[in-house]
Amino acid sequence: MKFFIDTANLDQIREAQALGVLDGVTTNPSLMAKEGITGKNNILKHYVDICNIVEGDVSAEVNAVDFEGMVKEGEELAELHEQIVVKLPMTQDGVKAAKYFSDRGIKTNVTLVFSAGQALLAAKAGATYVSPFIGRLDDISTDGLNLIDEIRQIYDNYAFETQILAASVRHTMHIVNCAKIGADVMTGPLSAITGLLKHPLTDSGLAQFIADYEKGNK
Ligand code: G3P
Repeated sequence: MKFFIDTANLDQIREAQALGVLDGVTTNPSLMAKEGITGKNNILKHYVDICNIVEGDVSAEVNAVDFEGMVKEGEELAELHEQIVVKLPMTQDGVKAAKYFSDRGIKTNVTLVFSAGQALLAAKAGATYVSPFIGRLDDISTDGLNLIDEIRQIYDNYAFETQILAASVRHTMHIVNCAKIGADVMTGPLSAITGLLKHPLTDSGLAQFIADYEKGNK
């Protein structure tokens, strides 16, 4: 399972990269705005800065909502760096754009996916990644993990190569359960990734080892 971090914060990306388990980064317009990154040139530069920190795929989302605009913006993003994946919304124009880019060997991530039917269309369009938002489904009392399960079954039935990128991951159990189901990738905040480290028996066991070592090596 690949681990992506879902942020545009360079310090958090560096911290996750330093941990040695990071496979890529996802961003979206809200995450860029949260870091105060505004204006086209600053936004493009920020994507390059992210690519220079990590080794894997970096999803950069188009802001256009029409096919021609998505193609223009996506081509510009893809030219920025070889690690850029063009992130497109799950709309009619977004699906058309995913097909356009996949025909030209440019990686895509179809985002804002909330149903198995949408994920099926993204795979048919040749998307590299599909991003079902599990946390936002949980927010409205719908089982986000069930959607991952449905997409896994459909993609396996037909050997679709589109990778299931579980997005809107909020906490450690989302990650563990996505791994059990077989999501190819998860993207979440740094806190969800580092949360996997934690167990009180690890802490108490280590404290005991240190105390015993110090007793015998005074
Ligand atoms: O990758 C999609 C993600 O950014 C959405 O997460 O927490 O805003 O639902 P969230």
